[in-house]
Amino acid sequence: MPEDEFHADFEFLRKAQRLSYEEILKIARVAVDLGVSKLRLTGGEPLLDKRIDRLVSGLAQIPGVDDLALTTNAMLLAPVAQKLADAGLHRVTISLDSLDEDVFRLMSGGRGELGKVMDGIAAAQRAGLSPIKINVVVQRGVNDHTVIDLLDHFRGTGHIVRLIEFMDVGNRNGWRLDQVVPSRHLLEQVQQQWPLRRVDQSYPGEVARRYEYVDGQGEVGFISSVTEPFCGSCSRARLSADGMLYTCLFANQGTDLRESLRNNADDEELKDILSQIWLQRADRYSELRRPELAEAHVLRKVEMYRIGG
Ligand SMILES: C[S@@+](CC[C@H](N)C(=O)[O-])C[C@H]1O[C@@H](n2cnc3c(N)ncnc32)[C@H](O)[C@@H]1O
Ligand code: SF4
Repeated sequence: MPEDEFHADFEFLRKAQRLSYEEILKIARVAVDLGVSKLRLTGGEPLLDKRIDRLVSGLAQIPGVDDLALTTNAMLLAPVAQKLADAGLHRVTISLDSLDEDVFRLMSGGRGELGKVMDGIAAAQRAGLSPIKINVVVQRGVNDHTVIDLLDHFRGTGHIVRLIEFMDVGNRNGWRLDQVVPSRHLLEQVQQQWPLRRVDQSYPGEVARRYEYVDGQGEVGFISSVTEPFCGSCSRARLSADGMLYTCLFANQGTDLRESLRNNADDEELKDILSQIWLQRADRYSELRRPELAEAHVLRKVEMYRIGG
């Protein structure tokens, strides 16, 4: 969220504009009834919500939720990791783009503290929020030269590092195609250091291509959303804080579920709405990606900080 726009006086969503926990739980229950089995809390930064363990607890109690995860920058994780595990959270994914202090500072807008993030990872491990995944968005000329050091640090820890191609999400990240480091180049680079072998997908529609170190020091994933899109197996829907449902990371419009909820739609009506959205869905932005449009910021896409990845 660019600081010049979202300054100290910026008026964020008011409480009444955001979905309440009860409303989120209602939509989650209906979605699970329709076959959803995996839920992820993301953001924005989910741990800015001081009571998020209550939401976690409500979600964890829905029968049929097999996987309940949270994606965080981990700045606020250490003090709450055990509370989240006790509330029923299964695991965390942590965004950490570099272990180099200067690169980390640059990529976290001068606000992140690497020490706190590392404490957060350690606390998550103690609390059993595993497998812990570490998401690294690789940008050419920004952090690509620090990837091997980061992998080296996490080898043998059981944490799974995933190297993600820098995507043209939203309209504000100044994306250019030449900033993308193709996964196949990274794979070659990693292979030169430590031999890898391919591992099967752990579930259908998994976004990362999985590899393991031949020397048994763990696993590393590659997410090649730009150079090898996987829209055909994409099965994710995203619910924003103000109740919009988006069926694609690059959507330019969503469906307002808050209005339906506040017009007292019952579970059956919500089920119908969700089914219709899903049956009509034809998203395949990454397969049709036109870099020239993204670079010229012609398309108006939903911002990443509203839908969380
Ligand atoms: C938007 S964050 C939201 C959750 C939380 N605030 C965090 O930092 O993890 C979710 C994930 O999206 C990834 N991400 C952000 N911008 C990206 C981009 N341009 N391309 C690919 N992944 C991106 C982040 O690295 C992070 O793992
Ligand atoms: S571009 Fe949209 S449809 Fe394709 S994988 Fe990404 S989120 Fe899914």
